[in-house]
Amino acid sequence: MRICYLFILFLLVSPLAAQVSVPDWYNAGHEAHIDSLLSIMTLEEKVGQMTLFTSDWDVTGPTIRKGYEADIKSARLGAIFNAHTADYTRKLQKIAVEETRLKIPLLFGYDVVHGHRTIFPIPLAEAGSFNPDAAEESARIAAREAAAAGLHWTFAPMVDLVRDPRWGRVMEGAGEDVYLGEVMAAARVRGFQGKDLNDPFTVLACVKHFAAYGAAQAGRDYHTVDISERVLHDIYLPPFKAALDAGAATFMTSFNEVDGVPATANKHLLTKILREAWGFMGFVVTDYTSINELVPHGVAEDEAAAGQLSVKAGVDMDMQGAVYYNHLRKQVEDGAVAMRQVDEAVRRILRMKYALGLFDDPYRYNDAARERENILTAEHREAARRIGRESIILLKNEMQTLPLRKDLKRIAVIGQLADSQVDMMGAWKADGQAKDVITLLTGIREAVGKSTRIDYVNVPAIKGSDRTGFDDALKAARAADAVILTLGETWEMSGEAASRTDIGLPGVQDLLVAELTATGKPVIAVLFNGRPLAIPELAEKATAILEAWYPGTEAGHAVADLLFGDHAPSARVPMTFPRSVGQVPLFYAAKNTGRPLNPNDKYTSKYLDESNEALYPFGFGLTYTTFSYGNPTIDKKSITANDRVTISIPVTNTGQRAGTEIVQLYVQDVVGSVTRPLRELKAFERVLIDAGQTQVVTFTLTSDDLAFHRQDMTYGTEAGTYRVFVGGSSQADRVVEFSLK
Ligand code: GLC
Repeated sequence: MRICYLFILFLLVSPLAAQVSVPDWYNAGHEAHIDSLLSIMTLEEKVGQMTLFTSDWDVTGPTIRKGYEADIKSARLGAIFNAHTADYTRKLQKIAVEETRLKIPLLFGYDVVHGHRTIFPIPLAEAGSFNPDAAEESARIAAREAAAAGLHWTFAPMVDLVRDPRWGRVMEGAGEDVYLGEVMAAARVRGFQGKDLNDPFTVLACVKHFAAYGAAQAGRDYHTVDISERVLHDIYLPPFKAALDAGAATFMTSFNEVDGVPATANKHLLTKILREAWGFMGFVVTDYTSINELVPHGVAEDEAAAGQLSVKAGVDMDMQGAVYYNHLRKQVEDGAVAMRQVDEAVRRILRMKYALGLFDDPYRYNDAARERENILTAEHREAARRIGRESIILLKNEMQTLPLRKDLKRIAVIGQLADSQVDMMGAWKADGQAKDVITLLTGIREAVGKSTRIDYVNVPAIKGSDRTGFDDALKAARAADAVILTLGETWEMSGEAASRTDIGLPGVQDLLVAELTATGKPVIAVLFNGRPLAIPELAEKATAILEAWYPGTEAGHAVADLLFGDHAPSARVPMTFPRSVGQVPLFYAAKNTGRPLNPNDKYTSKYLDESNEALYPFGFGLTYTTFSYGNPTIDKKSITANDRVTISIPVTNTGQRAGTEIVQLYVQDVVGSVTRPLRELKAFERVLIDAGQTQVVTFTLTSDDLAFHRQDMTYGTEAGTYRVFVGGSSQADRVVEFSLK
């Protein structure tokens, strides 16, 4: 315990304190209570606190143990996941606090990733809103509902940066960009944890999956990650650090190895970086049985050895593996693991239980009336509808086909996803229930006038190869004034263990597109999918395209609000849409290489059979008006390390209706001691501009925005020329330059 005090004192007085802040939830007063509890706990009770088992209420991994209630009673279990409702968690909590020797409260966790019962757009979609306030709001509502349902801890935000759309878990994060990933990670932690963890409507965040899980080779889930230390630090770690700086209470290790060492046994990650460099004071939990998986990884000969590696690397809690449960006590008794290591882990776990106020009142989250009052409320639905709208991207709108008139005589609505409730929630839907979901078909029917005829044809074209419904679809299309065609993936085609090698439209959807667009009718495609898709044929043939991802419980209302113009789309592409899977990984913040593309020179970086260009680049998105950018101005042509530079640019709404533009600022470090990306997003601003009006948007950069890991792996800036690009996507072309002295 003395070590802990010294560490806290060090953090508060040392120069490092400037980089490492003590989180708001830390309460020095709790440490004395933890000390006294540790002093009377048996080793078996300590190991119990380091053990997390799933209940049998939901299945999120390969194993389910029976008998977790007996484990609670014998104090061999300190936390449960996949159990919820105020009543059921009260039942289990009662065993812990009334039938055990020390009455230490249980922690209840669940994957409340994008909503608990009111489901919000999948996180990738929400990242495309470029609206951190929206992300914070949806996390806050998710926390409110989860807490009302007896949950103390969510296994979110997932902050894995990803540049390979074959990976199924792209739906769960914030896409390809470091800065957007940092902004969204911090916003979600703030939403889940609020300003005070003692507030019974807040939950512990759990930042996952530490680290670099999104860099799995070939986009295949759980596959090897082999990246440089520089890429780890400059690309994959920043969103984790942003989450920690926002006060994240817990971290979850990833399944993958990093530079040959699985994250769950990786002392460099869990102790050197997370604890010593970043000063993390919460606790680290593994992913589902990831300690056990050190054996198939080939770094431990058996589970006992695996457990020893993990506890020494800095893993505090074993999710579902029962490795600490089965082996840690004997390893401490045999001296193979120091009691100090166990005490430190238990301290971190108890610290969070104190921070939540569970020792004051272990039933403070177990109020069934509070649960009924706070689940799926009208306010929550309104927020889901609004954030749903803000997460939908207008990718194409030929001849200003959208918005549609509400008094059209006939609209054909085609496709199975138009009338599917379950698919609208996407993966990781927690307690989201299909019966609560507004489908697109319902949203359209509610939006149009009484005189409008809606012909719906369910064409099951996503799986298999038969053309059921094609004839009826064509007949309806030929008789309609407009065709709304839903396309994409069913919800289980993305998420965990759902990688795909072909990221085109699955099934026979391309055939359906070809036949419907051949009718000559305006075809508005609405995409419901969990990853960027390679859809060049659709991009060419459809009249308009809305990328709706999975908008959640209010899906149908959110999409219809945009289709009929009650609101205008504003989201942008959070992750590059490639033209073909062969281009992957394809992302805007690429390097120039020594032979950048020159179409007239064979010996330059290109393909024989595909362009280098994205189908839809990062940051791209349309709306129901247009914008033009004036010339940017900069207040200084050169700055020193402690200086700042201000860039301003006039943005004009050149259309007929108000619109939201997401003005983006990218920076290129033209010459570095190592190669640098052609451009990196460093700032963005959502601006609502009335028709015909001009708004001057101003950004400020400091040298901190230019720092990176230099050739000697020190972190900092380098003198030289910096090019600034400002515009409405990663293809921004308004340029100014400055130099850093
Ligand atoms: C799963 C996921 C992780 C989740 C955990 C608990 O395997 O990888 O994101 O939080 O198990 O459900």
